[in-house]
Amino acid sequence: MNNSLYNEGGIHLRYERARGLSEATLNLWLERLSAHVPREDIRTIIDLGCGTGRFSVALARHFSARVYGIEPSPKMLSAAREAVNASPVQASVVLMEGTAERIPLDDKTAEMLFLSMVYHHIVDKELACAEFKRVLKPPGHLCIRTATRERIDSFLWLRFFPEAREIESRRMLSGRELKTFIEARGFRLAAHEVVRQMFAGDLNEYYERISERALSVLQMIPDETFARGLLALGEHCATHDTGQPVCEEIDLFVFRADGV
Ligand SMILES: C[S@@+](CC[C@H](N)C(=O)[O-])C[C@H]1O[C@@H](n2cnc3c(N)ncnc32)[C@H](O)[C@@H]1O
Repeated sequence: MNNSLYNEGGIHLRYERARGLSEATLNLWLERLSAHVPREDIRTIIDLGCGTGRFSVALARHFSARVYGIEPSPKMLSAAREAVNASPVQASVVLMEGTAERIPLDDKTAEMLFLSMVYHHIVDKELACAEFKRVLKPPGHLCIRTATRERIDSFLWLRFFPEAREIESRRMLSGRELKTFIEARGFRLAAHEVVRQMFAGDLNEYYERISERALSVLQMIPDETFARGLLALGEHCATHDTGQPVCEEIDLFVFRADGV
């Protein structure tokens, strides 16, 4: 996958506007995480592929933990730096350039490794799994927030961009594929759930968010194709808006690093 997608075209400036999560949605994720990961177990967390740091700050606050935000895109990292500096947990969050394949941290650094919408971007998943094992303090919690192939149809916008849907169905793993791959590399699945999150308050806001083109797959399709899909989505949103929130489904996997 092309890591530079997040370092080009000003995506770092639009990301929060397009993909920022409400306080309620962030809290929902923190609550689901702590249903599987005891807060008292956690002193240090690695937020791998932290992007603009939307989870780094929330994780530091919720778990009262030190957080290392690791991110390959210098521009996303600079947006994260601004967010962290403006937060009350500034002293607990350390941001560093790095990738899943090469995590710039010592062995056994953290009790928890968190990846949000990053797994499908990792080019060398074999190497990344070895890094996950290395930086986790056993038994360690590997938490993966991702959309598996089974969730694709819960994303309304993908119905209007068939070329993007095609790419997503190729690059997203099924839940079984993800579990099998990671378990074969020394982890054990401790929990898996599907979380239904609110993405926009209504269809009007939904359209505004998608039109920012801050989803990586929408950068991967040609401009004309994007424009055509956006027009159709706009018509749909204008004619179907009932003021109801727009939700989507995202998987949460929690693995322990004590598998064989
Ligand atoms: C969809 S964004 C998610 C950002 C953040 N985790 C969040 O949930 O807001 C994907 C992020 O993964 C980063 N990324 C891409 N390839 C990566 C890799 N090999 N290792 C770590 N992060 C990577 C991108 O630069 C981007 O910031």
